Amino acid sequence: MRGIILAGGSGTRLRPLTSVHSKQLLPVYDKPMIYYPLSVLMHTGIREILLISGPEHVDTYRSLLGDGSRLGIHLRYAVQEEPRGIAEALVLGGSFTRGEPVCLILGDNIFYGHRLPELLRREAGHLDGCTLFGYPVSDPERYGVATVDDTGTIVGLTEKPARPASNLAVTGLYMYDGTATERAAALAPSDRGELEITDLNLGYVREGRARLVNLGRGSAWFDTGTHDSLLEAAMFVQVLEKRQGIRISCLEEIAYRMGYVDKERLALLGKELSASSGYGRYVMELAAT
Ligand code: DAU
Repeated sequence: MRGIILAGGSGTRLRPLTSVHSKQLLPVYDKPMIYYPLSVLMHTGIREILLISGPEHVDTYRSLLGDGSRLGIHLRYAVQEEPRGIAEALVLGGSFTRGEPVCLILGDNIFYGHRLPELLRREAGHLDGCTLFGYPVSDPERYGVATVDDTGTIVGLTEKPARPASNLAVTGLYMYDGTATERAAALAPSDRGELEITDLNLGYVREGRARLVNLGRGSAWFDTGTHDSLLEAAMFVQVLEKRQGIRISCLEEIAYRMGYVDKERLALLGKELSASSGYGRYVMELAAT
């Protein structure tokens, strides 16, 4: 399975924070936002990853993450000229995925859960059609909302419904079979001129080949779309990291634990980050254990 991170958009809701910066590079406590979705793909065992951003920001991502080789992964980059919809990521990524199954994640979505990596690996292993990940929320009208039958098959899906049929928000993490690109390319733009991800998903729903996995109470999901949710996500990370003495979504640690880099490389990565940063020290200490 290949991975795509969509990190474009105009970030209007977060201005002036995003007047010159890419939203998905804003800090979420101790690391740039983009680390979180990238960590999800790495935990899923995906090492071939395409990062898509707007023309004015794509080089900043390249400077930050390079070709991924320091983390034992392969990163490529593509430009989305205008925010023409989330589903456009699959069209832009067509020559990258080349008919292989793909996991698409939004660059502003943060996931955390004890057993999440195992769950994602399992789901990637028996994908048929598409698999979406739901999360119970108190304000479903802000999201895509799904209803499912007893087997987890999606029977209803609506984007930002005025009267939500359930409290299950569809998160920005999607797994698709090899037909996603051609399906996305065949979509007609919506009234707001975008290739809607919900329209793509509805195609699978109509065929009875869309599953929803409820991430449930045991995990956390943040969509950092507003000033408040950005701060809440940062505070969540801070509380967890301080209390447990760990770092979450630490790419260097994940690369090591997934076997993508060895201890020697990990020590080097820690050094590069500098011992004067708590994050850097964490990586160095991990390499020394
Ligand atoms: O976060 C989950 C929600 O994401 C889902 O529940 C919705 O079904 C889905 O439509 C989406 O809703 P949003 O209102 O959050 O979508 P938004 O247009 O804000 O885009 C989400 C992110 O994707 C945002 O960081 C910007 C980026 N983006 C968006 C579009 C439309 C792009 O990079 N390019 C685009 O063309």
